Amino acid sequence: MSASFLDSDRPKVLVVDDHPSSRMTAVALLSVEGYEVLEADSGSAALVRVGECNPDLILLDVMMPGMDGFEVCRRLKQEEQTRLIPVVFITALNDRRSRIMGIEAGGDDFLTKPFDRLELSARVRSLIRQKRLNEDLDHAEKVLFSIAGTVESRDPATGDHCERLVTLGAAFGNFLNLPRNEVRDLMWGGHLHDIGKVGVPDSVLLKKGKLTPEEWDIMKQHVIIGENICKPLRTMRGVIPIIRNHHERWDGTGYPDGLVGDEIPYLAQVFQILDIYDALTSERPYKRAFTPDEALEIIAEETAKGWRNPKLIEQFTTFIRTTHLPQT
Ligand code: C2E
Ligand code: SIN
Ligand code: FE
Repeated sequence: MSASFLDSDRPKVLVVDDHPSSRMTAVALLSVEGYEVLEADSGSAALVRVGECNPDLILLDVMMPGMDGFEVCRRLKQEEQTRLIPVVFITALNDRRSRIMGIEAGGDDFLTKPFDRLELSARVRSLIRQKRLNEDLDHAEKVLFSIAGTVESRDPATGDHCERLVTLGAAFGNFLNLPRNEVRDLMWGGHLHDIGKVGVPDSVLLKKGKLTPEEWDIMKQHVIIGENICKPLRTMRGVIPIIRNHHERWDGTGYPDGLVGDEIPYLAQVFQILDIYDALTSERPYKRAFTPDEALEIIAEETAKGWRNPKLIEQFTTFIRTTHLPQT
């Protein structure tokens, strides 16, 4: 690879080292490869440079007076703005302890001094490519969340429905001891489950009163529209079943697939309870807000009718009674 990037596209690498001589070697090698190279001679100077120049990769010396490389890395990985920048630690050969600490600090890779020119070039190139992919993904996710946000704001009665679902999802997910990634899917579901309502006209979405059969057919499409919007993104895989199947019923009378019992994806079952509980305890254009006890009562009636998973409803009732209601 040579200097074949368009100038605005030329990746920036920040080289951080307190020794001018080792910095110069890295700078020379990277410049030849076509990178724009920035330098910093201490940990605190590095943090300032990162803020100014938003580099695509950082080559970071471990041992520096003042703030060491591990601390620099930890701080960068904690910040939303900088966490995606790959950090490559420069360590001495066979320094196992530094490598372990580097991994713990959130470092992405290691290079040993003296540099092997080909190794440096290959590592830097592949990490920058990966970073750009991650950034694109990050942007795509943000777009989806922002579409979901517009849907929410179209319906003032929905208020903080999604925010409450996220909080409830984290709490109930942990109550059920779900693995972390599933708790995350539940929380994302809070924002994204009704994203498909973007395709439902105001005359239906905001109607005060019962929907006609034709309007109901349109409303039911929201789960399909939502799935189609989110399907292209790999990171949405865990949320898709929540989006598509959050209106199924245990006895098979729900939509869109009429799934029965445990054919309904488990996270969709879990999420559905939260959605219904929150909808019941909130005001809607078509209904008043019920009290938590009334809501649990309605959910119990629906369970008796065969609409919900009895075991899960039992767990949810315990969860609400022990964490959300005054103890008597
Ligand atoms: P939503 O308002 O967010 O309600 C989500 C789910 O909570 C509903 O799914 C339903 O299972 C439950 N739920 C909400 N309100 C009540 C209630 O008063 N009683 C009972 N038993 N359950 C309730 P569902 O029925 O599939 O509805 C999906 C969406 O369709 C609703 O989302 C809402 O946007 C719309 N919708 C449903 N019924 C009506 C209606 O009568 N009028 C209007 N304008 N929209 C409706
Ligand atoms: C409703 O009362 O809105 C129907 C409830 C459901 O679909 O579970
Ligand atoms: Fe829905």
